[in-house]
Amino acid sequence: MATNQDSMTMRPFRIRRTAQDTYDTFTMELEPAGSGEFTFAPGQFNMLYVFGVGEVPISISGDPTDPLPLIHTTRAVGTVTKALQKLKKGDVLGMRGPFGSAWPVEQAKGKDVVIVAGGIGLPPLRPAIYQILANREEYGKFVLLYGARTPDDLLFPKELEQWRGRFDMDVTITVDRATDGWLGNVGVVTRLIPKAVFDPKNAVAMLVGPEIMMRFTIADLQKAGMADKDIYVSMERNMKCGVGLCGHCQCGPSFVCKDGPVYSYETIRDWMRKREI
Ligand SMILES: Cc1cc2nc3c(=O)[nH]c(=O)nc-3n(C[C@H](O)[C@H](O)[C@H](O)COP(=O)(O)OP(=O)(O)OC[C@H]3O[C@@H](n4cnc5c(N)ncnc54)[C@H](O)[C@@H]3O)c2cc1C
Ligand code: FES
Repeated sequence: MATNQDSMTMRPFRIRRTAQDTYDTFTMELEPAGSGEFTFAPGQFNMLYVFGVGEVPISISGDPTDPLPLIHTTRAVGTVTKALQKLKKGDVLGMRGPFGSAWPVEQAKGKDVVIVAGGIGLPPLRPAIYQILANREEYGKFVLLYGARTPDDLLFPKELEQWRGRFDMDVTITVDRATDGWLGNVGVVTRLIPKAVFDPKNAVAMLVGPEIMMRFTIADLQKAGMADKDIYVSMERNMKCGVGLCGHCQCGPSFVCKDGPVYSYETIRDWMRKREI
């Protein structure tokens, strides 16, 4: 996949807006600090550098047909993501990218599409959702299954409501633990698969979530009749260079930064259970 410029050169991007989505997850809108364009494919990620702290890979969560400002949704888990969370409107960070492979949105034309997201797995899938909705008539049934830990952990609630209100998209949400006032589904996201309406022989599935969630989701999609080649996952591995040089992100014979992060399960199934090797 082409990058916007030399992949090792960091470009300055300014924070245009930042919003706290949940207690640990936030969304930042970035624009080039100088002039510059940006294009990306759904599923690709950028390396975001907090000056003096470090660099992390974060998927782009915005609309590929309207790429600027560039949107990233991040869960603050450690050193760099917590430093990223502290940045304010007007601050500048470094960015390299976009990197990696894309969701098979083109190949899925003429087929049903099933998207399964767990927690922070929804942001990397959102660009694919935008692209499919922009060309909705070119696809069959369109199913989104989304699971979060609690109702307070649900990302993009307003947008989920809009999508739920569409007649041409089936959106089902579940939470692991209900809180007061929650009247929806309770249980892991895989429980939604048997009830989802799609043709497993003519569908493409795209999943992101913790690896354990993806393993169970894959097993249930297989049970429903889907072939491994039609199931796509996005892998997370530690990254350093982002361009296939350092080997940090190695997963079996491939480098997640350039051969992934999106793989068909057929390609990755032997390597999915292993940490860095
Ligand atoms: C291709 C790719 C795309 C990614 N896209 C996104 C994205 O869109 N949004 C996003 O929030 N994250 C995303 N990540 C994960 C993100 O890169 C890591 O969370 C980040 O690198 C952690 O860096 P840190 O310095 O903050 O934490 P570290 O200091 O490295 O880690 C602190 C602790 O958190 C744990 N940890 C690390 N990552 C995670 C995690 N993802 N979930 C839970 N615990 C974790 C570590 O095991 C460690 O114990 C992506 C990763 C990859 C490889
Ligand atoms: S991050 Fe260096 S090879 Fe992938």
